[in-house]
Amino acid sequence: MGGDTHATPAPVLCTPYPVLSTPVPDFMLKRHLPNLDVPHVQLGEYPTPVEHLPALGDVWLKREDLSSPLYGGNKIRTLETLFADALARGFKRVWTLGAYGSNQAVACILHARRVGLQPGAVLFPQRATPTAAENLRVMVTACDEVVALRSLLTFPWHWLKLKRSREIYLVPPGGAVPLGALGHVGAALELAEQINAGAMPAPRHIVLAIGSTCTTAGLLVGLPLARQLGLWPGELPLVHAVRVTPWPVTARFQVLRLARATARYLAQVGGPVVKLQPERLVLNTRHFGWGYARITQGGLAAAKHFAELMAPPLDTTYAAKSGAALLEMLDTGDSPLRGQSPVLYWCTKSSAPLPPVDEAKLATAPGYIRRWLKRADKL
Ligand SMILES: Cc1ncc(COP(=O)(O)O)c(C=O)c1O
Repeated sequence: MGGDTHATPAPVLCTPYPVLSTPVPDFMLKRHLPNLDVPHVQLGEYPTPVEHLPALGDVWLKREDLSSPLYGGNKIRTLETLFADALARGFKRVWTLGAYGSNQAVACILHARRVGLQPGAVLFPQRATPTAAENLRVMVTACDEVVALRSLLTFPWHWLKLKRSREIYLVPPGGAVPLGALGHVGAALELAEQINAGAMPAPRHIVLAIGSTCTTAGLLVGLPLARQLGLWPGELPLVHAVRVTPWPVTARFQVLRLARATARYLAQVGGPVVKLQPERLVLNTRHFGWGYARITQGGLAAAKHFAELMAPPLDTTYAAKSGAALLEMLDTGDSPLRGQSPVLYWCTKSSAPLPPVDEAKLATAPGYIRRWLKRADKL
């Protein structure tokens, strides 16, 4: 006991704020817009906490990484409306498309069975990295219907075939359609509620990775909606979307196009007409590096720094690049933050442990998959 009284307390690196005491029972959008006619099944656990990261100053974290203990991250909200749509239309099977290391495909495969849907995925080859390899291992062993293509060339054909299928509900890459983006409209309202409850001050800046544009487009609708509903105090934050997929996938016009389509869709299904503020979008292209999934030095340094701070994990494909952008913005004299805080970092990569891999099943995977995994492991 005596030793304990003199023990130096461990430094507080990442202060968890209490999760709001009442768990959100249903779709956040319907809480505020009860007449909305939108399908929804709850896959995640909400609200995802907001936490202060004092080691970085007035920097806060939106812990979307904790959206589910099964497999979290930003894509859980996307899948909630898409899966519900599949169920409402009587589909029994849901497939998605993405790269070998797609987080969205992992989320789709791991969560679909929970709502009675049979999952599948068509995956195209990408740069071999450890992050991507751990996802691919899980997918090929957790799901019998994973088609890991040998070449990108046949991908459009598979996409078309799935699009035309009457038996399979297709979740497009990243779930980047208005219905998929609605989950992130809800996330913005959830954040506004957390601010009103005193869990954090209203951020002046939000920083997140942008891949398919779904999450960013949803926030670009949700933030002005929160303001229109009287939930957001003061001026809206700038949304710094950090490019991780190439132009034109993440071209500014594409992000705004999806945001506009989402706003239109919201109005069609019984919501208010949201007036977007496109000038609030800042597209940050500085951390893309040599391409999608290419590891950058800045990303590695950010991942290491976050780990030292016991902050959420950053994957080299997505979150490490937005983490690098955040650190650069905080560091540079001519920072786009210009001394304006608070800053909110959107933690998009799941921090739930991945399910164990069935090595025996993996051994039966095609040779080119096993060779790709070996290459990734060497990095
Ligand atoms: C970890 C992570 N962060 C960010 C993103 C980008 O989100 P979006 O595709 O909605 O732009 C993704 C997309 O899959 C992701 O997996």
